[in-house]
Parts: sequence; structure tokens; C-alpha cells
Amino acid sequence: MSSSLLIVTIFLLTVTAIPTSSSLPFIVLHGIGDQCSNKGMSEFTELLSSWSQTAGYCIEIGNGAWDSWFMPLQEQTDVVCEKVKEMKELSDGYNIVGLSQGNLIGRGVVEYCDGGPPVKNFISMGGPHAGTASVPLCGTGIFCIIADALIKFEIYTNYVQEHLAPSGYLKIPTDIDDYLDGCKFLPKLNNELPMEKNGTYKERFSSLETLVLIMFENDTVLIPKETSWFGYYPDGSFGTVLSPQETTLYKEDWIGLKTLDDAGRVKFLKLSGNHLAISESDMKKHIVPYLKDLTIQKKVKAINLSTKGLHGNSPRKLIVQ
Ligand SMILES: *[C@@H]1O[C@H](CO)[C@@H](O)[C@H](O)[C@H]1NC(C)=O
Ligand SMILES: *[C@@H]1O[C@H](CO)[C@@H](O)[C@H](O)[C@H]1NC(C)=O
Ligand SMILES: *[C@@H]1O[C@H](CO)[C@@H](O)[C@H](O)[C@H]1NC(C)=O
Repeated sequence: MSSSLLIVTIFLLTVTAIPTSSSLPFIVLHGIGDQCSNKGMSEFTELLSSWSQTAGYCIEIGNGAWDSWFMPLQEQTDVVCEKVKEMKELSDGYNIVGLSQGNLIGRGVVEYCDGGPPVKNFISMGGPHAGTASVPLCGTGIFCIIADALIKFEIYTNYVQEHLAPSGYLKIPTDIDDYLDGCKFLPKLNNELPMEKNGTYKERFSSLETLVLIMFENDTVLIPKETSWFGYYPDGSFGTVLSPQETTLYKEDWIGLKTLDDAGRVKFLKLSGNHLAISESDMKKHIVPYLKDLTIQKKVKAINLSTKGLHGNSPRKLIVQ
């Protein structure tokens, strides 16, 4: 009888913080002339995915390399916007890793994609954010014959703007009037048009958690290389390149770059090497941390030890972290 009076109840409750909202996936947006099916791109995506332990998706636009050259950037942006909206995997939010031209498409998605899932971190490698004063070197082959023929036309005519993607961010500092008049993509993306600034672009871009801007010290593709940091030539001359903070885009905070920078959310990084020539160790050091979930995954263990009996112990609750 006495032993049956002793009732010991032990509740053991283990609550493990399940990584629900953690480990956001990322997308990769490749550069011009590249495509997701190329070995380099698939390896790049796979490496980042395995190092960060997060899902990564290289997003293709149209048929890849060809469309990266000849589909206008607004259309390329619209394609990605539709894709990210359709991907259930991204619905809680995602990170973007952009390569070169892919960064302008990524920024277009951040700024324009109505109803798209939220973008948390944006890691930009060699992005022509403030434009480039020279069309990327093409090389040989059918693309280049066509591209070179188009470049020989006036770059800011509708025809070229509608048929050659990089014409959308070609910014000749000595031809700013024609650029603002005729260039269809970058002036809008950067809220450069005095009469057409849209506060939504700024609001969306400045809501990024972190913007990582990687410049390649020996970049010979982007002219000037500082465009990777939003630095550029002053209007009217090929003179000394302005630092990002010296540009009007920054000072007047057209797209929220200053807002982000003031909040300490922009990482300006300079890596050695030519355009996009990043080493595996630099990928681990400068990209992977922004793809990983950094919230401390607390393991909360709550043990409810309740005893009732001869000794009348009062219930105790023990919480262990
Ligand atoms: C600004 O951009 C947003 C997002 O694309 C759009 O919904 C809105 O209509 C634009 N506002 C103006 C005044 O153009
Ligand atoms: C890259 O640029 C830096 C600084 O301009 C220079 O010191 C270095 O030698 C360059 N490296 C290569 C491989 O050209
Ligand atoms: C712990 O156990 C006591 C006694 O059975 C009960 O009243 C109390 O609600 C329990 N607390 C939790 C957090 O389960």
C-alpha cells in the first residue's frame, strides 16, 4: 500500500528548434555567354550548395548562352521573376548569387518582381552595377559575329536595345544624354531618370539583409572594374573613377545603397584575379557564410519532473539549453 502511494510522474519533453525558416535556398544567375548546363556553372552551384548545406538552383533564362546575349534584360528579368514565383522551394525567401550580367537581372528581380518571394542576401560577383563603358569581349563564333555587327550600330537605338542584352547597361560617360534617353535597362534599374524615379525600387532593394559586392582587382572585362561596387566615371569624362560614396546614386540614395551602407549591410570586397576568377577558398570565405543560416539553432530541452508522494515533493521544472 505504501509503495503504491508513491506516484512518480516524469514528463520528458524535448523541444529541438527545428530549422524551419533556416537554411534558405539560393539561386545562381550566370553571366553573359554562359548557361546552367555548362560544367563550370553546375559545379559552382553544387559546391556552394554542399559547403553551405543549402539547396541551390541555377536559374536558366530561355535557351541559355544565346538568350543571355540577345534577349533584352527586362525580358530576362521577367523570366526569372516568373520562375522564382513558381518555385515552391523559394516561397519562404531565398538568397541570390549573381555573376557579372546576372547581377543586373537579380537586382531587377529584387526591385521589380511584384509578388515574388523575399530576397535576403544578395552576393554579387563582378556585377556591372553602375554600367560598363565597353561591351564584354565576345570571342569568335556565330554569337560574336552578330554581337559585333550590332555593336557597330548606334548602341542606344531601339533596334540595338531590343536585340543586344549588354546594350542595356552600356554607359558611355561622354554620352550621358543619349544613355538616359535611349538605354532601356540600367537607367530605370538605378533610378537615374529624373522624372521616373520609383520609390518602390529603393524600398525593396534597401530591404536586403546583406549586400555583398565583390570586385575583382584585375578585372579586364568591366570598364571600370569599380562598377562592381557601384563606383563609376563622372558624367562627361573618362576621368578618375568615383568611389561608390562619391556618386550621385549614392549621395541622393536613389536605390537605397546608402541606406544599406549606413546600416552596415553592404560588404565591399576586393579579390585578386580577373573577372569572376574566384578561388574555392574565397568562395568559402566570402560567399558561403551568407548562404548558411546563422541563427543559433538552440536545442531546448525542457524536462518536467513532477513527483507526488510520501515526501510531497513539489513539482520542479528544469529547462536545459
Ligand atoms: C513603381 O514600381 C512598382 C513595382 O514594379 C509598380 O507596382 C508601381 O506601379 C510603380 N510606380 C510608378 C509610379 O510607376
Ligand atoms: C592584380 O592587381 C594588383 C593591384 O593592381 C597587382 O598588384 C597584381 O600584380 C595583379 N595581379 C595580376 C595577376 O595581374
Ligand atoms: C509540469 O507538471 C505539473 C504537474 O503535473 C503540471 O501542473 C505542469 O503544467 C507541467 N508543466 C509543463 C510545462 O508541462
